[in-house]
Amino acid sequence: MVNLEQIDKNRIPRHVAIIMDGNGRWAQQRGQERSFGHQAGAETVNTISETAARLGVEFLTLYAFSTENWNRPEKEVQALMQLFIESLKEEVLMKNNLRFRIIGDRERLPLDVRECIDRCEADTDKNTGMTLVLALSYSSRWELTHTMKVLAQQVQDGTIRPCDISEESVAQQLNTAFMPNPDLLIRTGGELRLSNYLLWQCAYTELYFCDTYWPDFSANDFYQAIIDYQHRERRYGKTREQIQ
Ligand code: FPP
Repeated sequence: MVNLEQIDKNRIPRHVAIIMDGNGRWAQQRGQERSFGHQAGAETVNTISETAARLGVEFLTLYAFSTENWNRPEKEVQALMQLFIESLKEEVLMKNNLRFRIIGDRERLPLDVRECIDRCEADTDKNTGMTLVLALSYSSRWELTHTMKVLAQQVQDGTIRPCDISEESVAQQLNTAFMPNPDLLIRTGGELRLSNYLLWQCAYTELYFCDTYWPDFSANDFYQAIIDYQHRERRYGKTREQIQ
């Protein structure tokens, strides 16, 4: 078990992004349907949100549903949509002073999910605690393509010139413009890939992979990831001497 004194309170990552993988395998290991794993995963979302907020993380971004996940069996997609509605509880967000936001192609989401999201975003907008972001119907390629269309339109309208396009102006058009880039990305479930998640934003993010399936991922596992992150040297392309 991690002793909390091992964590340097002055080096808490400002933004942690998580790929919550392994729900399906967790359920199948128990002879259950995949949706059972997603339900258990929703409980882990609560545990890890509270743990991250208590540590002082400012932004927690969870990959809940990718644009590719629309290709899953209809039954699983419907169960996930229903789970989002059931799990997004304004009173829990309010109690924990969390600000709630969504990134992704919200137009593709069913109306009842959109209404639930809109309500949670509006009601928690003035909260001052951690911002909990769900990536829903999200993928980096979707986000970047959308951004390119917006910028191309601005050029066509004559409001900007191609030479005005910079890294900053691209970042300002992304869905994630309201948040800093992730400092730490955690992927549970043993796979070693980014799966179309925050590819622009993770250019200099520290990556942490663990085998634990998301439903089993505990506060202690989260602390371990934070401690691992705190031992990394972030150089952003500079030399060690320059950093020191
Ligand atoms: C990936 O595991 C997980 C998902 C596609 C869904 C994640 C959703 C939750 C954890 C529920 C979230 C609830 C809220 C309120 C955000 P997988 O099914 O691909 O696992 P596998 O690789 O073992 O098949």
